[in-house]
Amino acid sequence: MSTSCSSILFGFSLCGFLLCSLKLCYAFEGRETAETTLLHRVPNGKHMQVVHSHGPCFSSHGKSTAPTVAQVLAQDQSRVDTIHSRLSTGGDPLRASSATIPGKSGRSLGSGNYVVTVGFGTPKRDQTVIFDTGSDLTWIQCQPCVKSCYKQQEPIFNPSSSTSYSNVSCTSAQCSQLTSATGNTPSCSSSTCVYGIQYGDQSYSVGFFGRERITLTSTDAYDNLLFGCGQNNRGLFGQVAGLMGLGRDPMSIVSQTSQKYGKFFSYCLPSSSASAGYLAFGREGTSDSVQYTPSSINSQGPSFYFIGITGISVGGQKLSIPSSIFSNAGTIIDSGTVITRLPPTAYSALRTAFRQQMSSYPTAPALSLLDTCYDFSQATSVSIPKINFYFSGNTNVDIDASGILYANGLSQVCLAFAPNSNDGDVAIFGNTQQKTFQVVYDVAGGQVGFGAGGCK
Ligand SMILES: *[C@@H]1O[C@H](CO)[C@@H](O)[C@H](O)[C@H]1NC(C)=O
Repeated sequence: MSTSCSSILFGFSLCGFLLCSLKLCYAFEGRETAETTLLHRVPNGKHMQVVHSHGPCFSSHGKSTAPTVAQVLAQDQSRVDTIHSRLSTGGDPLRASSATIPGKSGRSLGSGNYVVTVGFGTPKRDQTVIFDTGSDLTWIQCQPCVKSCYKQQEPIFNPSSSTSYSNVSCTSAQCSQLTSATGNTPSCSSSTCVYGIQYGDQSYSVGFFGRERITLTSTDAYDNLLFGCGQNNRGLFGQVAGLMGLGRDPMSIVSQTSQKYGKFFSYCLPSSSASAGYLAFGREGTSDSVQYTPSSINSQGPSFYFIGITGISVGGQKLSIPSSIFSNAGTIIDSGTVITRLPPTAYSALRTAFRQQMSSYPTAPALSLLDTCYDFSQATSVSIPKINFYFSGNTNVDIDASGILYANGLSQVCLAFAPNSNDGDVAIFGNTQQKTFQVVYDVAGGQVGFGAGGCK
């Protein structure tokens, strides 16, 4: 049941994507998304380029350590569970008990995350870190590793060989700010402030709280940024050096660099290893075509970026979902959740419409949390329906083809959305659906924006 390249079913043809690069692309696309994508600095400006870790610009990762697609999706679920426990307001006894894990502990750092390389210290040492819009503390592994450090790609940072490192004292105001940034009360060792942060999947980092010069791009370096110098670290961090927190808390890099960049940043996540994306700080380079939707502080989860979904359409047809479904749950946008999670009522409407419009293709077994899969191994061309998300403020996001399907090889290509277990759980607009958009965080202006065609 193949469709010719020129025929456009449901108003949207994937000729340029699926037909013409089906074998080339999807044969490995699942693995590519299963691996860490690297953002690295370009010679000039505030843009840091994004490439895949196995792309032409970067090839030192050991392939054997790459997780499978199913592992990535399982890790993604653990991240979502912990986001939900951070956001729960109690009532349900199970949830209330998971919420007693310190406030911000819940974060699974799966390999579906994106990373950026920045310079730490003087002289500067390149360190590749996960960038995370859902947490606040920036930390990297530091020598000496008193208990354990996991294997990382670059040499582990040594603060004693940096002239710009200094310790934060236990009695300082900055030390006490760690409580809101990490959910844990800091401790003290020889009058130096000690932070600890743990994540939902048993990952953690503990070490001295310090100040350091961080070089974001070749032209922009920041002195005395507060960060965690982790001497005891464990978890599913892949081979990255640590994490860059881009949440709303005063401790995040966004807040700490606000004098220069005005709490404004953007990124573009590429659709595949063949193309590049970026992370950028500051307003410069923001496209005029970006459509903004309001995003203000929500006391339920003050470090998250909440946005409001108003509707979804499939193949140009608006789904009939009561708007209260979205407004009750609320939605966050997250750079670290791979697959968008919807209230089950909304997901079910999306799935029904998608299945109807895809009924000419043979189905395939479910892939972890993805329950709507197709076997395209015999297809010479495939057309899939267009999916649009509407956000408050008349913002219409026409999801890129790379954000509609998630593939585990050609014979198992799945609808890249999943339901929450409860209509009351917060929805999450994940990184698969953000691909190719310039995603703009105008934190001071209280808005998040989407610009089509930010990268390929
Ligand atoms: C930071 O504090 C720790 C613990 O007191 C100490 O071992 C280390 O030498 C200090 N580093 C600097 C640069 O002062």
